[in-house]
Amino acid sequence: MKRWFIITGFIGISVFLYFATYKNASQTNIVFDDEQIGLDDQIVIYFSHVVAENTPKGLAAQKFAELVEEKTNGRVKVEVFPNGLLYSDEEEMDALRRGDVQMIAPSISKVTKLVGEWNVLDLPFIFENYDDVEKVFTGNTGKELLSMLEGTGIKGLAFWSNGFKQMMSNRQLLIEPKDFKGMRFRIMPSNVIEKQFRLLGAKPIVVSFNHVYQSLEKREFDGQENTISNIYSKGFYQFQPYITVSNHGYLGYVVLMNEKFWRSLPEDIQKQIAAALKETMLWNLKQSKQQNEQQLMEMKNNRNIQIYELTDKERKEWKEKFAPLYKEYEKKFGSKLLQRIQDDRS
Ligand code: LMR
Repeated sequence: MKRWFIITGFIGISVFLYFATYKNASQTNIVFDDEQIGLDDQIVIYFSHVVAENTPKGLAAQKFAELVEEKTNGRVKVEVFPNGLLYSDEEEMDALRRGDVQMIAPSISKVTKLVGEWNVLDLPFIFENYDDVEKVFTGNTGKELLSMLEGTGIKGLAFWSNGFKQMMSNRQLLIEPKDFKGMRFRIMPSNVIEKQFRLLGAKPIVVSFNHVYQSLEKREFDGQENTISNIYSKGFYQFQPYITVSNHGYLGYVVLMNEKFWRSLPEDIQKQIAAALKETMLWNLKQSKQQNEQQLMEMKNNRNIQIYELTDKERKEWKEKFAPLYKEYEKKFGSKLLQRIQDDRS
C-alpha cells in the first residue's frame, strides 16, 4: 500500500512538472539551451517571408534581426526564414494567427481581404514617386492604416517598401491599354488588382508567389506585374522578357506580429522592437529604391530582355483608363483615406 502510494505520488509530480514546463515554453517561446548560460530566458521570434534573401524585404528582415539582437543585448533572437521555406504566401497568415510563427511581412495587397480599405494602396498611380510612399508610410496615415488591424488578433507594426510594379509579358511589349486584351495575367489576391486587369480586357489569375516560377514553366499565364527586384531575383524575365517600366502600381509590405505574442512581451522589449522596426523602415525605404534602380540597369544590359519606359503621354492614357477604379473604390469605402493619401502627397 505504502509502495503504491509512493509510485502514484511520483507519477503525479512528474506529470505536473512536464505540463508546467511545456505550457510555459510554448506561451513565451523560450528556448532552453543548457550549454549556454544566460540563454534560458532568450525570446525567439520566427519571421517567415516568401521572397529571396537578397531583396528589399529579405534584407530588411535581416537588418531588423540584427538591430533587435543589438538593442536587446541578445535577449531577443529573430530567426528569419526566407523563400517561403516555412510557409507560402497563402499559408503564412494562418500560421501567424495560430502562433506557429510570430512575424510575417506580406505584401499589402494580400491583406486587403482582412482590411478592405487597404485596397486604396493597390489603386494604379496612387503614388507618383518614392517620396509619396515615404510620406504615407512614415506619417499619420501609416499609423491610421495600421490601427485598422485592431480586433483581428494581429498586431500591425510597420510598413516596409519594395518598389513600383512593372508590366511584363511573354509575347510583346505592353504599351497601350489595348495591348493587354485577351492575355492571361498572374495577380496577387486583391480586388482592385483583379479589376485593373479586367478593365484592360485581360484575364486575371491568382497565383501564389511560391508557384509563379513553376506556372511560368508550364506557360499558365502570359503576363504579370511585379517589381524589378522580384523579377530579377526570381529570374521571371527568362520566361517573360518584354518589360514595360510603367511604375503604375506599388508593392509595399506590412510587418505583422501575432498579437497574443506581442502582448506577452515585456514593455521594454516591445519598445526595443518598435525602435528596431522604425530604424529598419527608414533604411529599407532608401535601400529598396537603390536596389530596384540598380537591377533595372543590369537588366537593361541583358540583350535577351527588352525594356520599354512609358512616355508621359502613355502614362496619361493609362491613368485615364484606370479612372473608374477610383470611383468604384470611393463608392465602396468612401473618400476619406483616398483624400488623406492625396493630401500627404501634396
Ligand atoms: C508577389 O506575390 O508577387 C509579392 O507579394 C511577393 C513579395 O512578397 O514581394
